Amino acid sequence: MAKKEIKTIGVLTSGGDAPGMNAAIRAVVRTAIAHGLYVKGIMRGYAGLLAEEIVDMNRSSVSDTINRGGTILYTARCQEFITAEGQKKGADICRKHGIDGLVVIGGDGSFMGAGKLAALGINTIGVPGTIDLDIACTEYTIGFDTAVNTAMDAIDKIRDTSTSHERCSIIEVMGRRAGYIALWCGIANGAEEILLPERYDGDEQAIVNRITEARKRGKKHYIIINAEGIGHSTSMARRIEAATGVETRATILGHMQRGGSPTCKDRVYASIMGAKAAELLAQGASNRLVAYKDGKFVDFDIQEALQMKKDILEDQYTIAKMIN
Ligand code: ADP
Ligand code: F6P
Repeated sequence: MAKKEIKTIGVLTSGGDAPGMNAAIRAVVRTAIAHGLYVKGIMRGYAGLLAEEIVDMNRSSVSDTINRGGTILYTARCQEFITAEGQKKGADICRKHGIDGLVVIGGDGSFMGAGKLAALGINTIGVPGTIDLDIACTEYTIGFDTAVNTAMDAIDKIRDTSTSHERCSIIEVMGRRAGYIALWCGIANGAEEILLPERYDGDEQAIVNRITEARKRGKKHYIIINAEGIGHSTSMARRIEAATGVETRATILGHMQRGGSPTCKDRVYASIMGAKAAELLAQGASNRLVAYKDGKFVDFDIQEALQMKKDILEDQYTIAKMIN
């Protein structure tokens, strides 16, 4: 079958936002234009697609955005798009607006939707955008670098006051199912404990014992990084204080980790991934996911990528426990 001619592409952001998404959008728009394509921005992810919130974009639509957090296209979660009817409606709306190809910037859920659109004849390319780093086929996701740097700075500050007051501090970082932010901050901040959804066995007594021993050795602070997926940091703090006699405070960093100006790495990698996505569409590719693997920017079949499994790297976890 002859490849479909691509004249106009769309771009949307979907799921949780991530710093660097604007850099990716900017690269999609400018690369597509350089290839002679027209570009439409779809607002609010799949929800905006179904509501036909579609705007024309040109080079200047993305001026002054590379340094900005969030997403200029806004983002949303959309239940209707999970249904076959919603997906068909989405594909029909793309056709109605002359959108031959689509770049979807988001996480695994968004890519499932992208795969469905590809099967319905809309050439679709995914770009990994999530602070969680939880997409199996790629070693980099847009926003992770900024998020861990934001969290690291905040944890350094908490460590100062924790030391002054000789307290234990539990700091909850984002990651409902994935502990990468917790692990990286745990290493970067030299935390005494790193609690990951993938590894935590729930043995709070062991933590209490280690705090008591550390106190006997004269340790002034005790930093526990707790991933959102384990949660309950406030009640954990109360129990630890009661069991150890060490004043304990909990801080939940929350959505501050999703905002802010992207780091250099997030700007550069997001730009390369966005440009690659637009190039793939210009070449007539579909149902592909842009990824970073073994030092190279590559792309995978969406369904194959979604089948891949990811886990915390055991050696990183072991090293963190050994050196902290
Ligand atoms: P992320 O893309 O970050 O993983 P979500 O899991 O919330 O975020 O997914 C974002 C959106 O992708 C959902 O709100 C929905 O519109 C769409 N989506 C999720 N799962 C599917 C699916 N199985 N089929 C089609 N679309 C889906
Ligand atoms: O996927 C990114 C993420 O920030 C997760 O770490 C977190 O569990 C979730 O999104 C929070 O989502 P919401 O924006 O709905 O609170």
